[in-house]
Order: sequence, then structure tokens, then C-alpha cells
Amino acid sequence: MSIKDRPYIICLMMTSVDGKILGENWGDRPEMVTLKNKFEQIHNQIGIKAWIVGRTTMEKDFTDYTKPILKKADHQIDRNDYVAAHGAQSFAIALDGKGKLGWESAEMEGDHVITILTERVEDAYLAHLKDIGVSYIFAGSDEIELKTALYKLRHLFGIEKLMLEGGARINGSFLNEELIDELHQLLLPIADGTTATSTLFEIDEAIKKEGATLLKLENVKQIEDDVLWLTYKFKYSS
Ligand SMILES: NC(=O)c1ccc[n+]([C@@H]2O[C@H](COP(=O)([O-])OP(=O)(O)OC[C@H]3O[C@@H](n4cnc5c(N)ncnc54)[C@H](OP(=O)(O)O)[C@@H]3O)[C@@H](O)[C@H]2O)c1
Repeated sequence: MSIKDRPYIICLMMTSVDGKILGENWGDRPEMVTLKNKFEQIHNQIGIKAWIVGRTTMEKDFTDYTKPILKKADHQIDRNDYVAAHGAQSFAIALDGKGKLGWESAEMEGDHVITILTERVEDAYLAHLKDIGVSYIFAGSDEIELKTALYKLRHLFGIEKLMLEGGARINGSFLNEELIDELHQLLLPIADGTTATSTLFEIDEAIKKEGATLLKLENVKQIEDDVLWLTYKFKYSS
């Protein structure tokens, strides 16, 4: 896919030294809280005005597990993309093919919400989104096709740069399709040690391409509190 047809994609993640990403396993001692706050700090410092997360991250860290809100539709709603806020300058984007997220407002942390759906979602779900002014795009009939979604983010909303901000599964899907341009890893001085929790990239065995991806280290910066800010570019084989 040509870079002109999708946003330039920067993945930002914070990890323990053992590559784990679930901050809730790290406790809430003041030092841990300070470390966990680095994510937001560096997000703001990078300053890109569009960010995308998976359904799980959005409901856990942003919408507080709100259930989908349905509005009785008095007519059938077609599966055309809906650009609600013409001229919005910043975007909070969710990958939510089945329409599981409950949206109560068209803004998240001051950014206009775009949700990426498949055509399988109910009319009543779309009616509610339209009612509150959440933008939605369709990217696939049953499963999300990332390239379709990214093409639309670029061409319908003019998004040229996008922050990919987890979790493990959406990062893994983008990696598997060679759609990440840069990785910014905040390596926190934390040893997690759990065996079952998520790591930075997780790709379903059934779809994972053979082998691993090489990266090129572009920058190493030590920031406050013993955190390393590592910047890589991807060296895809194709
Ligand atoms: N350390 C960090 O920097 C950081 C950053 C962000 C998040 N996190 C943490 O990561 C955890 C969540 O990670 P996660 O891996 O469980 O979930 P995730 O990547 O946030 O979301 C995965 C979900 O997104 C939906 N999805 C739609 N299209 C997809 C596609 N092409 N590929 C993958 N997913 C797609 C699916 O929802 P359906 O099942 O509904 O289809 C899927 O289950 C949270 O605990 C969060 O706090 C950590």
C-alpha cells in the first residue's frame, strides 16, 4: 500500500524491561504512577493529533466499559461512511468491528471520535452514533480490513500521521500487515515477571507471517526516572 494512501504510522508503547504492557500489574506506588504517566507525557510531546487503539484498550482506558447504546431506527440505515465533524483537527479512533463500544459523546479527551466498524453492526447502533455525532467508517463486511480503514482515514479525514497506541493485538495486526513506520518504545525500569500477560506485539498464530521483523535503531534517549525512549524504523522484507 502506497504511503500516499494511508497515514504515516508511529506506534507508541510503554513496556517493562521484559516487554510486558499491562500497567495494572505494576501496582500503584507513587514511583509506578510516575512511570505510567510517561506515556501521556511523551504522547503530548510527539504532538500528533490522531490516535488509534483497539476496542479492548478503548473500553478499559477510556470509555469505562460503557455498554453499546442503541437508538431505535425508524428506517433502514445504509452502510455508507459517516463523517460527522467536518473540519475536526484532532481524532480519537477505535477499531471496533462488532460495535461493542458504548459512546456517550462524540469527543474523547477533546478529540473527535471516529469508530471503525464492519457492516455487520446493527442499524440501532449506527442511529445512536449519528444522533450524537460520532463519525464512523466501514472497513469490511465481517472482519476489519486495516488497509481499507487506513485509506479512508487518509482520504475522508485528511489524517497524514497517526499514533498507533495499543494494545498488543492491534499492534500485532498492523505489524503483520507491515503497516507501522516507526516504533517509539518507552522502556520503563520495571521487571514484570508475569507469564500470561500481553507483550508489545501479539499476532494470532493462524495469520502470523513466518519469521520476525527486523528494526533499525534510530535514536536512544534517556529521559527522567531511568526511562529509555527508543525509536526504531521497520525493515520489512517485502
Ligand atoms: N503499555 C502500553 O503502552 C499500553 C498501551 C495501550 C494499551 N495497553 C493495554 O493493552 C491492553 C489491551 O490490549 P489487547 O491486546 O488485549 O487489546 P487491543 O489491541 O486494545 O484490542 C483488541 C481488540 O480490537 C478489536 N479489533 C478490531 N480489528 C482488529 C484487528 N485487525 N486486529 C486486532 N484487533 C482488532 C477486536 O475487538 P473484538 O474482540 O470486539 O472484535 C480485538 O479484540 C489493555 O489492558 C491496555 O491497558 C497498554
